[in-house]
Amino acid sequence: MTNKHKTLGEFIIENQQSFQYSSGELARLINSIRLAAKVVNHEIRKAGLVDITGAAGEINVQGEAQQKLDVYANDIFKETLINREIVCGIASEEEDDFVIVEGSNKKNENNYVLMMDPLDGSSNIDVNVSVGTIFSIYRRLTPTGTPVTIDDFLQPGRNQVAAGYVAYGTSTMMVFTTGDGVNGFTLNPAIGTFYLSHPNMKIKETGKIYSISEGYYAHFGKGMQAYLNYCKEEEGDRPYTARYIGSLVADFHRNLLKGGIYIYPRSKTAPNGKLRLLYECNPMAFIAEQAGGKASDGFTRVMDIVPTELHQRIPFHTGSKQMVIKSEEFMAKYK
Ligand code: AHG
Ligand code: MN
Ligand code: MN
Repeated sequence: MTNKHKTLGEFIIENQQSFQYSSGELARLINSIRLAAKVVNHEIRKAGLVDITGAAGEINVQGEAQQKLDVYANDIFKETLINREIVCGIASEEEDDFVIVEGSNKKNENNYVLMMDPLDGSSNIDVNVSVGTIFSIYRRLTPTGTPVTIDDFLQPGRNQVAAGYVAYGTSTMMVFTTGDGVNGFTLNPAIGTFYLSHPNMKIKETGKIYSISEGYYAHFGKGMQAYLNYCKEEEGDRPYTARYIGSLVADFHRNLLKGGIYIYPRSKTAPNGKLRLLYECNPMAFIAEQAGGKASDGFTRVMDIVPTELHQRIPFHTGSKQMVIKSEEFMAKYK
Protein backbone atom coordinates (compact mmCIF):
# COMPACT_ATOMS: atom_id res chain seq x y z
CA MET A 1 0.00 0.00 0.00
CA THR A 2 1.25 3.50 -0.76
CA ASN A 3 1.62 6.06 1.99
CA LYS A 4 -0.95 8.23 0.33
CA HIS A 5 -4.05 6.96 2.06
CA LYS A 6 -2.48 5.13 4.96
CA THR A 7 -4.29 5.57 8.25
CA LEU A 8 -2.67 5.61 11.69
CA GLY A 9 -4.39 2.30 12.46
CA GLU A 10 -2.90 0.66 9.36
CA PHE A 11 0.51 2.15 10.10
CA ILE A 12 0.50 0.67 13.60
CA ILE A 13 -0.41 -2.80 12.29
CA GLU A 14 2.23 -2.66 9.53
CA ASN A 15 4.96 -1.44 11.87
CA GLN A 16 4.43 -3.79 14.79
CA GLN A 17 8.06 -4.90 14.57
CA SER A 18 9.33 -1.36 15.22
CA PHE A 19 7.39 -1.25 18.49
CA GLN A 20 10.28 -2.56 20.57
CA TYR A 21 9.79 -5.43 23.03
CA SER A 22 6.11 -5.26 22.42
CA SER A 23 3.59 -8.05 22.05
CA GLY A 24 0.99 -5.67 20.70
CA GLU A 25 0.85 -3.83 24.02
CA LEU A 26 2.58 -0.69 22.84
CA ALA A 27 0.45 -0.68 19.69
CA ARG A 28 -2.67 -0.80 21.88
CA LEU A 29 -1.27 2.03 23.95
CA ILE A 30 -0.73 4.26 20.89
CA ASN A 31 -4.27 3.35 19.80
CA SER A 32 -5.65 4.57 23.11
CA ILE A 33 -3.76 7.85 22.80
CA ARG A 34 -5.22 8.22 19.32
CA LEU A 35 -8.73 7.78 20.73
CA ALA A 36 -8.24 10.18 23.65
CA ALA A 37 -6.69 12.75 21.31
CA LYS A 38 -9.79 12.69 19.14
CA VAL A 39 -12.05 13.24 22.14
CA VAL A 40 -9.90 16.11 23.44
CA ASN A 41 -9.70 17.57 19.94
CA HIS A 42 -13.49 17.58 19.72
CA GLU A 43 -13.73 19.51 23.00
CA ILE A 44 -10.98 21.99 22.08
CA ARG A 45 -12.71 22.79 18.80
CA LYS A 46 -15.76 23.88 20.80
CA ALA A 47 -13.76 26.03 23.23
CA GLY A 48 -14.77 29.32 21.64
CA LEU A 49 -18.43 28.36 21.47
CA VAL A 50 -19.28 27.15 24.92
CA ASP A 51 -18.44 28.50 28.30
CA ILE A 52 -15.67 26.01 28.92
CA THR A 53 -12.55 28.16 29.01
CA GLY A 54 -11.20 30.06 31.96
CA ALA A 55 -9.56 28.94 35.17
CA ALA A 56 -11.18 26.01 36.95
CA GLY A 57 -10.47 27.68 40.24
CA GLU A 58 -7.75 25.26 41.21
CA ILE A 59 -4.03 25.80 41.37
CA ASN A 60 -1.88 22.87 40.18
CA VAL A 61 1.19 21.55 41.98
CA GLN A 62 3.40 24.08 40.25
CA GLY A 63 1.34 27.03 41.40
CA GLU A 64 -0.19 27.75 37.99
CA ALA A 65 -3.86 28.47 37.50
CA GLN A 66 -5.43 25.44 35.83
CA GLN A 67 -7.65 26.03 32.84
CA LYS A 68 -10.78 23.91 32.61
CA LEU A 69 -9.56 22.19 29.47
CA ASP A 70 -6.35 21.11 31.25
CA VAL A 71 -8.46 19.20 33.72
CA TYR A 72 -10.72 17.83 30.99
CA ALA A 73 -7.80 16.64 28.84
CA ASN A 74 -6.13 15.09 31.88
CA ASP A 75 -9.33 13.19 32.77
CA ILE A 76 -9.92 11.94 29.21
CA PHE A 77 -6.37 10.64 28.71
CA LYS A 78 -6.34 9.09 32.17
CA GLU A 79 -9.74 7.42 31.81
CA THR A 80 -8.98 6.08 28.34
CA LEU A 81 -5.68 4.57 29.46
CA ILE A 82 -7.13 3.12 32.65
CA ASN A 83 -10.23 1.68 30.95
CA ARG A 84 -8.21 -0.03 28.25
CA GLU A 85 -5.93 -1.61 30.85
CA ILE A 86 -2.62 -0.95 29.13
CA VAL A 87 -0.56 1.08 31.54
CA CYS A 88 0.54 0.33 35.08
CA GLY A 89 1.07 3.96 36.00
CA ILE A 90 0.48 7.52 34.84
CA ALA A 91 2.23 10.77 35.73
CA SER A 92 0.81 14.07 34.56
CA GLU A 93 1.47 17.76 34.85
CA GLU A 94 -1.99 18.01 36.36
CA GLU A 95 -1.44 15.37 39.07
CA ASP A 96 0.68 16.15 42.13
CA ASP A 97 1.77 12.51 42.42
CA PHE A 98 1.91 9.58 40.01
CA VAL A 99 -1.17 7.38 39.67
CA ILE A 100 -0.91 3.60 40.21
CA VAL A 101 -3.02 1.65 37.71
CA GLU A 102 -3.42 -1.85 39.10
CA GLY A 103 -5.96 -3.05 36.50
CA SER A 104 -9.47 -4.36 37.10
CA ASN A 105 -8.14 -7.72 38.32
CA LYS A 106 -5.81 -5.83 40.70
CA LYS A 107 -2.81 -7.80 39.46
CA ASN A 108 -0.68 -4.91 38.16
CA GLU A 109 -0.05 -6.91 34.98
CA ASN A 110 0.69 -4.09 32.56
CA ASN A 111 4.21 -3.10 31.60
CA TYR A 112 4.21 0.53 30.52
CA VAL A 113 4.13 3.83 32.37
CA LEU A 114 2.98 6.96 30.61
CA MET A 115 3.84 10.56 31.41
CA MET A 116 1.99 13.45 29.89
CA ASP A 117 1.33 17.11 29.60
CA PRO A 118 -2.35 16.67 28.74
CA LEU A 119 -2.74 20.25 27.53
CA ASP A 120 0.34 22.26 26.68
CA GLY A 121 0.10 25.98 26.05
CA SER A 122 -3.23 26.18 27.87
CA SER A 123 -2.96 29.93 28.41
CA ASN A 124 -3.37 30.19 24.63
CA ILE A 125 -6.87 28.66 24.56
CA ASP A 126 -8.68 31.87 25.39
CA VAL A 127 -6.98 33.69 22.54
CA ASN A 128 -7.62 31.03 19.87
CA VAL A 129 -4.01 29.94 19.51
CA SER A 130 -2.68 26.39 19.09
CA VAL A 131 -2.34 24.02 22.04
CA GLY A 132 -1.11 20.44 22.27
CA THR A 133 -0.73 17.20 24.21
CA ILE A 134 2.68 15.64 24.92
CA PHE A 135 3.31 12.03 25.99
CA SER A 136 6.26 9.85 26.91
CA ILE A 137 6.22 6.07 27.42
CA TYR A 138 8.62 3.79 29.33
CA ARG A 139 8.73 0.16 30.30
CA ARG A 140 8.42 -0.21 34.05
CA LEU A 141 11.58 -1.09 36.00
CA THR A 142 9.90 -2.73 39.00
CA PRO A 143 8.60 -6.29 38.53
CA THR A 144 5.25 -6.93 36.85
CA GLY A 145 2.64 -7.91 39.41
CA THR A 146 3.62 -5.23 41.93
CA PRO A 147 2.34 -1.63 42.12
CA VAL A 148 4.56 0.87 40.28
CA THR A 149 6.86 3.07 42.34
CA ILE A 150 8.50 6.45 41.75
CA ASP A 151 11.54 4.60 40.30
CA ASP A 152 9.44 3.58 37.29
CA PHE A 153 8.94 7.26 36.48
CA LEU A 154 12.37 8.70 37.27
CA GLN A 155 14.10 7.08 34.29
CA PRO A 156 16.45 8.96 31.96
CA GLY A 157 14.89 9.93 28.63
CA ARG A 158 17.10 7.51 26.71
CA ASN A 159 14.93 4.70 28.16
CA GLN A 160 11.82 5.98 26.38
CA VAL A 161 10.16 3.40 24.13
CA ALA A 162 7.81 5.89 22.51
CA ALA A 163 7.01 9.58 22.67
CA GLY A 164 4.89 12.01 20.77
CA TYR A 165 2.60 14.97 20.71
CA VAL A 166 -0.74 16.01 19.34
CA ALA A 167 -0.91 19.52 17.90
CA TYR A 168 -4.38 21.06 17.91
CA GLY A 169 -3.60 23.72 15.31
CA THR A 170 -5.16 24.77 12.05
CA SER A 171 -5.35 21.03 11.61
CA THR A 172 -4.97 18.33 14.26
CA MET A 173 -1.81 16.28 13.97
CA MET A 174 -0.29 13.43 15.90
CA VAL A 175 3.50 13.09 15.62
CA PHE A 176 5.31 10.24 17.33
CA THR A 177 8.32 7.98 17.42
CA THR A 178 8.89 4.47 18.69
CA GLY A 179 12.64 4.84 18.19
CA ASP A 180 12.49 4.11 14.47
CA GLY A 181 12.08 7.58 12.95
CA VAL A 182 9.32 10.13 13.32
CA ASN A 183 5.96 10.04 11.58
CA GLY A 184 3.17 12.61 11.47
CA PHE A 185 -0.53 11.94 11.00
CA THR A 186 -3.19 14.52 10.18
CA LEU A 187 -6.77 14.13 11.34
CA ASN A 188 -9.50 14.23 8.76
CA PRO A 189 -12.16 15.76 11.02
CA ALA A 190 -15.03 14.78 8.74
CA ILE A 191 -14.49 11.08 9.35
CA GLY A 192 -12.36 11.13 12.51
CA THR A 193 -9.40 9.31 10.98
CA PHE A 194 -5.70 10.17 11.22
CA TYR A 195 -3.81 9.78 7.91
CA LEU A 196 -0.06 9.48 7.46
CA SER A 197 0.68 12.94 6.07
CA HIS A 198 4.34 13.37 7.14
CA PRO A 199 6.25 10.06 6.78
CA ASN A 200 9.81 9.86 8.13
CA MET A 201 10.11 13.48 9.30
CA LYS A 202 13.60 15.01 9.33
CA ILE A 203 14.67 18.38 10.73
CA LYS A 204 17.15 20.48 8.75
CA GLU A 205 20.76 20.45 10.02
CA THR A 206 20.48 24.20 10.40
CA GLY A 207 17.63 26.67 10.02
CA LYS A 208 16.79 30.35 10.17
CA ILE A 209 14.26 30.48 13.01
CA TYR A 210 15.01 31.14 16.67
CA SER A 211 12.17 30.73 19.16
CA ILE A 212 12.55 32.11 22.67
CA SER A 213 10.72 34.56 24.91
CA GLU A 214 13.37 37.20 24.37
CA GLY A 215 11.50 39.74 26.51
CA TYR A 216 13.32 38.15 29.47
CA TYR A 217 16.72 39.00 27.93
CA ALA A 218 17.76 41.07 30.95
CA HIS A 219 17.10 38.04 33.19
CA PHE A 220 19.16 35.57 31.12
CA GLY A 221 22.76 34.56 31.78
CA LYS A 222 25.72 35.91 29.82
CA GLY A 223 25.98 32.86 27.54
CA MET A 224 22.32 33.05 26.53
CA GLN A 225 22.55 36.80 25.95
CA ALA A 226 25.64 36.37 23.78
CA TYR A 227 23.89 33.66 21.74
CA LEU A 228 20.86 35.90 21.17
CA ASN A 229 23.13 38.72 20.00
CA TYR A 230 24.69 36.20 17.60
CA CYS A 231 21.22 35.28 16.24
CA LYS A 232 20.55 38.94 15.42
CA GLU A 233 23.95 39.78 13.98
CA GLU A 234 24.26 40.42 10.23
CA GLU A 235 26.67 37.70 9.10
CA GLY A 236 26.32 34.71 6.75
CA ASP A 237 22.74 33.40 7.00
CA ARG A 238 22.00 35.72 9.94
CA PRO A 239 20.10 37.59 11.27
CA TYR A 240 17.61 34.81 11.98
CA THR A 241 13.88 35.28 12.06
CA ALA A 242 12.12 35.24 15.47
CA ARG A 243 9.02 33.08 15.95
CA TYR A 244 7.53 32.41 19.39
CA ILE A 245 3.98 31.21 19.97
CA GLY A 246 4.30 30.32 23.64
CA SER A 247 3.01 26.79 23.06
CA LEU A 248 5.91 24.36 23.12
CA VAL A 249 4.12 21.88 20.86
CA ALA A 250 3.35 24.51 18.22
CA ASP A 251 6.79 26.14 18.40
CA PHE A 252 8.55 22.76 18.26
CA HIS A 253 6.36 21.50 15.42
CA ARG A 254 6.99 24.57 13.26
CA ASN A 255 10.74 24.30 13.79
CA LEU A 256 10.66 20.55 13.04
CA LEU A 257 9.09 21.31 9.67
CA LYS A 258 11.08 24.44 8.81
CA GLY A 259 14.36 24.15 10.69
CA GLY A 260 15.16 26.25 13.74
CA ILE A 261 15.96 26.31 17.42
CA TYR A 262 13.61 26.50 20.41
CA ILE A 263 15.02 27.65 23.73
CA TYR A 264 13.50 28.03 27.18
CA PRO A 265 16.57 29.02 29.21
CA ARG A 266 17.13 29.55 32.89
CA SER A 267 16.52 33.13 34.04
CA LYS A 268 16.64 35.21 37.18
CA THR A 269 13.00 34.40 37.95
CA ALA A 270 13.07 30.80 36.62
CA PRO A 271 16.43 29.40 37.79
CA ASN A 272 15.78 25.97 36.20
CA GLY A 273 13.83 27.24 33.22
CA LYS A 274 10.12 26.48 33.01
CA LEU A 275 9.66 23.28 31.06
CA ARG A 276 9.31 19.93 32.78
CA LEU A 277 11.91 17.28 32.06
CA LEU A 278 9.69 14.22 32.18
CA TYR A 279 6.67 15.14 30.12
CA GLU A 280 7.79 18.15 28.06
CA CYS A 281 11.56 18.00 27.41
CA ASN A 282 12.25 14.25 27.20
CA PRO A 283 9.51 13.41 24.70
CA MET A 284 10.43 16.40 22.51
CA ALA A 285 14.12 15.44 22.80
CA PHE A 286 13.36 11.88 21.64
CA ILE A 287 11.46 13.19 18.61
CA ALA A 288 14.15 15.79 17.84
CA GLU A 289 16.92 13.17 17.90
CA GLN A 290 14.90 10.69 15.88
CA ALA A 291 14.39 13.43 13.26
CA GLY A 292 18.15 14.11 13.14
CA GLY A 293 18.05 17.10 15.50
CA LYS A 294 19.34 17.64 19.01
CA ALA A 295 18.14 18.51 22.52
CA SER A 296 20.16 19.69 25.49
CA ASP A 297 19.87 21.73 28.67
CA GLY A 298 22.56 24.02 27.24
CA PHE A 299 25.36 21.70 28.38
CA THR A 300 24.15 18.09 28.60
CA ARG A 301 22.08 15.83 26.36
CA VAL A 302 18.53 15.98 27.75
CA MET A 303 17.96 12.22 27.45
CA ASP A 304 21.01 11.48 29.62
CA ILE A 305 19.78 13.51 32.58
CA VAL A 306 18.76 11.25 35.47
CA PRO A 307 15.58 12.74 36.93
CA THR A 308 15.23 13.25 40.67
CA GLU A 309 11.68 14.61 40.81
CA LEU A 310 8.43 14.04 38.91
CA HIS A 311 7.88 17.72 38.10
CA GLN A 312 11.54 18.65 37.67
CA ARG A 313 12.27 21.61 35.40
CA ILE A 314 15.32 22.06 33.17
CA PRO A 315 16.53 24.69 30.69
CA PHE A 316 15.73 23.39 27.20
CA HIS A 317 17.46 23.90 23.85
CA THR A 318 16.13 21.85 20.92
CA GLY A 319 15.83 21.78 17.15
CA SER A 320 18.26 21.77 14.23
CA LYS A 321 21.49 20.08 15.28
CA GLN A 322 23.97 22.77 14.21
CA MET A 323 21.93 25.51 15.87
CA VAL A 324 21.74 23.67 19.19
CA ILE A 325 25.50 22.99 19.03
CA LYS A 326 26.14 26.70 18.42
CA SER A 327 23.97 27.71 21.39
CA GLU A 328 25.92 25.25 23.57
CA GLU A 329 29.20 26.84 22.45
CA PHE A 330 28.02 30.19 23.76
CA MET A 331 26.79 28.62 27.01
CA ALA A 332 30.14 26.91 27.56
CA LYS A 333 32.07 30.12 26.93
CA TYR A 334 30.38 31.95 29.81
CA LYS A 335 29.83 29.02 32.16
P1 AHG B 1 1.65 24.49 30.06
O1 AHG B 1 0.51 25.22 29.40
O2 AHG B 1 1.54 23.00 29.90
O3 AHG B 1 1.89 24.91 31.48
O4 AHG B 1 3.00 24.82 29.27
C1 AHG B 1 3.27 26.10 28.78
C2 AHG B 1 4.73 26.18 28.45
C3 AHG B 1 5.07 25.93 27.00
O5 AHG B 1 4.06 25.45 26.20
C4 AHG B 1 5.53 27.24 26.47
O6 AHG B 1 6.56 27.09 25.56
C5 AHG B 1 5.92 28.00 27.69
O7 AHG B 1 5.16 27.49 28.73
C6 AHG B 1 5.63 29.46 27.53
O8 AHG B 1 6.08 30.13 28.66
P2 AHG B 1 6.32 31.71 28.64
O9 AHG B 1 4.96 32.32 28.61
O10 AHG B 1 7.08 31.97 29.92
O11 AHG B 1 7.15 32.03 27.41
MN1 MN C 1 3.29 22.43 28.90
MN1 MN D 1 -0.07 21.65 30.48
